[in-house]
Amino acid sequence: MAKRRGGSLPKKKAPLRGKPVSTSRVEMVEVVLPNDANPLGAMLGGRVMHLIDIASAIAAHRHSNSYVVTASVDYLDFRNPIYVGELILLKSSVNRVFHTSMEVGVKVFSENVLTGERKHTSSAYVTFVAVNKEREPQPVPPLLLETAEDRRRWREAAQRRRIRLAHRYKKRQARR
Ligand SMILES: CC(C)(COP(=O)(O)OP(=O)(O)OC[C@H]1O[C@@H](n2cnc3c(N)ncnc32)[C@H](O)[C@@H]1OP(=O)(O)O)[C@@H](O)C(=O)NCCC(=O)NCCS
Repeated sequence: MAKRRGGSLPKKKAPLRGKPVSTSRVEMVEVVLPNDANPLGAMLGGRVMHLIDIASAIAAHRHSNSYVVTASVDYLDFRNPIYVGELILLKSSVNRVFHTSMEVGVKVFSENVLTGERKHTSSAYVTFVAVNKEREPQPVPPLLLETAEDRRRWREAAQRRRIRLAHRYKKRQARR
């Protein structure tokens, strides 16, 4: 291998150290205010999507310690409304790391502050790509699985990635 002008060889990058799922897990809570709601007093879908984006991006940032961009958001449905005065609770965690991308799962709940009742309102899978300042994709640390739940999510993420990438690259080919 050729030596650099200074005489020393270019430094080889050390392999990235794995990080447990628990170190990047996020729980976010907000109270639903009138400004977040439609005329029926239910939280706007767009506002829920915004919070899903934020809660999942924080988990991706924590895991990668890098800038991240959203590459895709899977199918999203709204099972129950969240009303003004209730809490919206978002739980997110990294499900699987590929090379430069990672899938983050988000589960959304409403919570009635008077009764304590919680309802599952949405679930989403968001894929982020770690990038540098030039927006070039960068490798992400491996994910260390600690629980049976972590392993189940990791297994299931592979199938979702196959579907997403087939969809994306089919679209690209169609444009050629
Ligand atoms: C996402 C983006 C970085 C991918 O760039 P690209 O040139 O297609 O890069 P590559 O083909 O090398 O793919 C990079 C990674 O993204 C993944 N990827 C690309 N498109 C994807 C999609 N639709 N779903 C899931 N993963 C995707 C690739 O699988 C690859 O991951 P891997 O390294 O873990 O295998 C680029 O398309 C982009 O910058 N998009 C705009 C992002 C944005 O503005 N988001 C909204 C605001 S943050």
